[in-house]
Amino acid sequence: MTEMAVTYGSLLIGGDRHFSYETEKYHEKGNCQMAYDYETFMAQVYKLTSIDLTAYKEKQMKRRIDTLINKHKCKGYEDFVGQLKTDKALFEEFVNYLTINVSEFYRNPDQWELMDKEYIPELIKRFGTNLKVWSAACSTGDEPYSLVMALSRHIPLNKIKIIATDLDKQVMAQAKTGLYSAKSVNGVPRDLKEKYFTKVGPSYQISNDIKSRVEFKEHNLLKDPYIPSCHFIVCRNVLIYFTDEAKEGIYQKFYNSLQPGGLFFIGSTEQIVNHKQYGFERRNSFYYQRPV
Ligand SMILES: C[S@@+](CC[C@H](N)C(=O)[O-])C[C@H]1O[C@@H](n2cnc3c(N)ncnc32)[C@H](O)[C@@H]1O
Repeated sequence: MTEMAVTYGSLLIGGDRHFSYETEKYHEKGNCQMAYDYETFMAQVYKLTSIDLTAYKEKQMKRRIDTLINKHKCKGYEDFVGQLKTDKALFEEFVNYLTINVSEFYRNPDQWELMDKEYIPELIKRFGTNLKVWSAACSTGDEPYSLVMALSRHIPLNKIKIIATDLDKQVMAQAKTGLYSAKSVNGVPRDLKEKYFTKVGPSYQISNDIKSRVEFKEHNLLKDPYIPSCHFIVCRNVLIYFTDEAKEGIYQKFYNSLQPGGLFFIGSTEQIVNHKQYGFERRNSFYYQRPV
């Protein structure tokens, strides 16, 4: 082991509990050090971005990262990390790419209809109109803005407040501009689309009335404190990317963040099989409740 490799190894470990970094993995072969393995790469990415890739499903993540590495014609993980350190545009592209930001308004419309007909009235009956609503992993804002519109059918707009969080600052900056493609807004009910969007060339601009009801904040589901005492939490299409172990911790934290009687809305492919383990009652495969 060269002196440089040892120093580098201890620098990576740095007391970080997320990684079981083994210095042996960064070893020497003749005079030529072997390139980073995935574990070393993950440790480097954590240092650079605070994104803990060990909590994300490895096969899927590796495939995505390899695609990006090939796109930029890098020689491997080590070369890529070197470039991330000096190329700000590449760094931003990487974070954006890593976090998989695909979203759309009223994603899975049937589930939003159920929210409109059943769950919003129920929440209002139980808690009144002053609801604390959290859209976690909100991406480009499609989801929290959809929530404002859905709630506006039941509550005066000026009483609605949504806290929307994501770890990716870039997507939230995009959310704040409020400009969307025709495809993104396709699922918005026609009356709401007419009321709250203006056509700007090929795009749709959401109105300030809707925008002003959402407060965007940076939040990493894997390490930041969760927002307490919520009545309704929406976290969709992100937990599918996490390992089972990471998901367990996240579900428990969401449960603890809900008030008794509060609801948790997840993505259509993300049903919580062992929901009782966390204390949840199952309303259907994508809505769960903290018992009253
Ligand atoms: C596929 S989008 C889902 C957007 C929206 N919830 C929906 O269902 O349309 C996933 C989002 O999760 C965010 N994300 C990924 N890892 C995260 C983490 N550890 N903490 C918070 N957000 C995260 C990404 O930045 C991305 O915006």
